[in-house]
Amino acid sequence: GQTTPDYRPQYHFTPPKNWINDPNGLVYHEGEYHLFYQHNPFDNKWGHMSWGHAVSKDLLRWEHLPLAIPEFTHADGNTKTAIFSGSAVIDKGNKNGLCPPGTKDCMVAVYTGNVSKDDKQTNQYQNLAYSADRGRTFTQYDKNPIIDIGSKEFRDPNVFWYAPQQKWVMATVKAKEHRAAFYASKDLKKWEFLSHFGPTGDTSKVWECPALMQVPVQGESGQSRWVLFISAGHPQPDYVGMQYFVGNFDGTTFTLDPAHPKPISGNSYAGAVVDWGKDYYAAIQYNDLPGSQPGPVMVGWLNNWAYANDLPTMPFKGAMSLPRQISLKRTASGLQLVQQPITSVRTLRGPASNVATMRLNNESRVWQKNTDNTYELELTLRPGTAKTAGIRLAKGSNEETLVQYVDGKLQVDRRRSGNVAFNKRFASVDEAPVALQNGAVKLRIFVDKSIVEVFINDGERVLTDQIFPTETAGGIELFAEGGTAEFSGLTLWPIKPVVR
Ligand code: FRU
Repeated sequence: GQTTPDYRPQYHFTPPKNWINDPNGLVYHEGEYHLFYQHNPFDNKWGHMSWGHAVSKDLLRWEHLPLAIPEFTHADGNTKTAIFSGSAVIDKGNKNGLCPPGTKDCMVAVYTGNVSKDDKQTNQYQNLAYSADRGRTFTQYDKNPIIDIGSKEFRDPNVFWYAPQQKWVMATVKAKEHRAAFYASKDLKKWEFLSHFGPTGDTSKVWECPALMQVPVQGESGQSRWVLFISAGHPQPDYVGMQYFVGNFDGTTFTLDPAHPKPISGNSYAGAVVDWGKDYYAAIQYNDLPGSQPGPVMVGWLNNWAYANDLPTMPFKGAMSLPRQISLKRTASGLQLVQQPITSVRTLRGPASNVATMRLNNESRVWQKNTDNTYELELTLRPGTAKTAGIRLAKGSNEETLVQYVDGKLQVDRRRSGNVAFNKRFASVDEAPVALQNGAVKLRIFVDKSIVEVFINDGERVLTDQIFPTETAGGIELFAEGGTAEFSGLTLWPIKPVVR
């Protein structure tokens, strides 16, 4: 008989139980990376939004901590503030005096208060909560809200220190106007409006979770651009996804750079696509990364609002992406976003299995009959004369997930990946345009039970998708159809489960 499917990822973050969505308050402080997240403490579906909390010393192994910021009820007894998405910063030396006197460093969470009275939403504004004990407990600021424009669609404050002008900058969105709104403050309490950006790019969905950061240009020492990430629509209508804008920020205004990537045909965005899969959303950057980093690190929610509430997972719902190192690369079509898993992900690798170059002519070859669907895979694929060539993952007798090259595109086809019936929008073929380099495409694929994260050509394109295999075989098979394809540098590393 069939055993109960084991969908829980082994090296991607998931909560012990119940629902999660966006990562919140990503900040490094005193040896700890904090991961706060949108969380329903009571149920395995969206609701009662609060900030859950975990910490890590390496961004890979997480320790779960008690709920950090719970939804709260006002004095009238029927008004409630839900703790929507936001960010966290460290006020070193407690200079602004939010925390009690004598506090060394004050952690300040800047979040959206989603206010409702008798279960009817009345307002959405920006609030502060502060912690004098490294994010373990928070106190609500008694002069909240800090920014209230009388809107019900004004959210997701992304705050960072803007060193050139010694001030805090906040990016927010006016969700239905498809505009980012920027504010500045010297003390985190009083905020002044700076400017708007948008509407532009994708306006098919509300704008959410802005993230503004300075990103280095690969191979051009000292060169960087400001990149604005917006969670909005997806190249395929009916889904949400992320777009990015390459530009400049002068402390007041964000403007598009002439080298912002040109739209790709078939994709009408002015905004460029961050992840071509269905399951990467609401990503934000870490504040205060230690040491000299090659660039920002971002984490995203590995899910899609199109079906998120229906996922067939118990007793939890939702996962986070691997932390991604962000850079820009100059290409013929402009400055392109490059995303790579942080380098230390390699430390999770078990002993490698290799295969010398394999040529397939209109045939399939089983590489692994059985894996536990917890591994990293690398290969270089030369499609050659094949019409379609690639790899079948999580393969059982009746199920498979295809990662394949066809006609200038790298596809993840999860239509037969297992349980696809839980929501009619789940089964899908996702694709990213890919230019072959010397006739080849390089793939680095992370499989983690119900997650497939595909990094193409050193992170120039990424496809992230969930799958829910019901068979346990976890096979891997290579194939070429309609001609000859070559696979080289095939390497598989089992990944050691990260202890929780
Ligand atoms: C994005 C989002 C945010 C909001 C939060 C609520 O996924 O809709 O805009 O703050 O989730 O949970």
